[in-house]
Amino acid sequence: MNIQEFDTRCRTLFDSFLTFYSGWNAGQLRNVEIKRQHSLRVSALCEKLAVALGLGPEEVALARAIGLVHDLGRFPQLMKYNTFNDAVSVDHAALTIEELERGNLLQGLDPGVAQTVKTAVLFHNKLALPAHLPEQERLFSQILRDADKLDILEVITDYYQNRDREPNHTLTWELPAKGISEKVLQMLREEKPVEREWVKTQEDIKLMQLSWVYDLNFKASYRILGQNRYVDKIFSVLPKRDEVYEVYRQVRIYVENKFMN
Ligand SMILES: [Fe+2]
Repeated sequence: MNIQEFDTRCRTLFDSFLTFYSGWNAGQLRNVEIKRQHSLRVSALCEKLAVALGLGPEEVALARAIGLVHDLGRFPQLMKYNTFNDAVSVDHAALTIEELERGNLLQGLDPGVAQTVKTAVLFHNKLALPAHLPEQERLFSQILRDADKLDILEVITDYYQNRDREPNHTLTWELPAKGISEKVLQMLREEKPVEREWVKTQEDIKLMQLSWVYDLNFKASYRILGQNRYVDKIFSVLPKRDEVYEVYRQVRIYVENKFMN
């Protein structure tokens, strides 16, 4: 199977998945739709980044396919556990790989390419990539991680700016609204991505999302970040405290440098 065929099979599997998992209640249906739209946008962003990186048509198709299927595990996760919270259910990335194997999606694919798909999916939701990865696995993992973060930034900044919308538990994690954790500020000062376990409030979530600027891999990703003004949009909904202003300023300088280098 070549990569174009793989891309087509990914699309077919993606569509059939949503038919297979039927019988959702109204609340679940809304969450299914959120993940369906997220997957489609991440796929488009992966494609956009791959093109910006100057990759060839086969690699662009691979990036697009990986983006589309990266969160397939979300559907069985919602079905079995009725949550998107990995901490109280299972690692949805591992679940995605199980589903890809169950759907025979990786069979007949060049073994190196199949491994690239698995690695990119498995590490898309982890704090960092392993230090040593073969070049192709690293590249596609980085593309997926950036695309996933950029789409989440789009969704959350849209939500923050349109407060009349129904609150979405995938965005608030059902945490208390106010308070900033010292550990979260400390990671930002160290220019490192904030780990989920330190996030205790909704304001911490916003700061964690701001910290993602320290974990983007490509100039093209910073360009998308800048064009959409995600950093300023998050800052505008944070409390106006000196510590917050300081980490925001640091983020701004870091991003500006990414454009110049
Ligand atoms: Fe995911």
